Amino acid sequence: MGKPISGRAAALAAVVVAASVAGAAAVAFAHGDVQPQPVDTTGLKPLGDQWLEENPYRGDELAIKIGEHGYTQNCARCHGIAAVSGGLAPDLRLLDPDAEGDEWFIQRTRNGYAQNGVTKMPAYGGILNQEAMWAIRSWLDTKRQ
Ligand code: HEC
Repeated sequence: MGKPISGRAAALAAVVVAASVAGAAAVAFAHGDVQPQPVDTTGLKPLGDQWLEENPYRGDELAIKIGEHGYTQNCARCHGIAAVSGGLAPDLRLLDPDAEGDEWFIQRTRNGYAQNGVTKMPAYGGILNQEAMWAIRSWLDTKRQ
């Protein structure tokens, strides 16, 4: 003789389903359907292992081209197509220009940002090299309002 599912078990099952749906949504948000893409920086002056604090490529045409591609593949889904933010993440055209903005840009891009253990901005250190990050910054410079 089968025992009917107790109210408690049914409630628990409902919680498990709800939690797994929420979990799937969180994962989808964190990773999106676009995985971080390596950026081909062939042709740019190699910068070595020492992280710079100032953009060595500002105004460099090749860096700007590579940067646009790198941004579109890695950053646009949160920061907006063509660097125009839809409100999900800050508008990167508004970053300070020059060395001061460079330092902030590279710091945030490398290390990301988490609040109360929740990743808001993913860390790109180890995914993109600094050549790729500075190329993205060079392209963003051309979009400044
Ligand atoms: C999953 C979404 C997401 C992706 C992808 C993403 N970011 Fe962010 N980024 C954020 C959010 C959210 C913030 C704001 C964090 C906070 O609360 O300070 C942020 C902040 C930043 C900041 C600081 C902006 C400021 O005004 O202080 C920089 C710089 C930045 N991101 C660069 C990048 C770059 C470059 C890429 C691509 C290589 C990128 N981000 C990809 C979500 C994202």
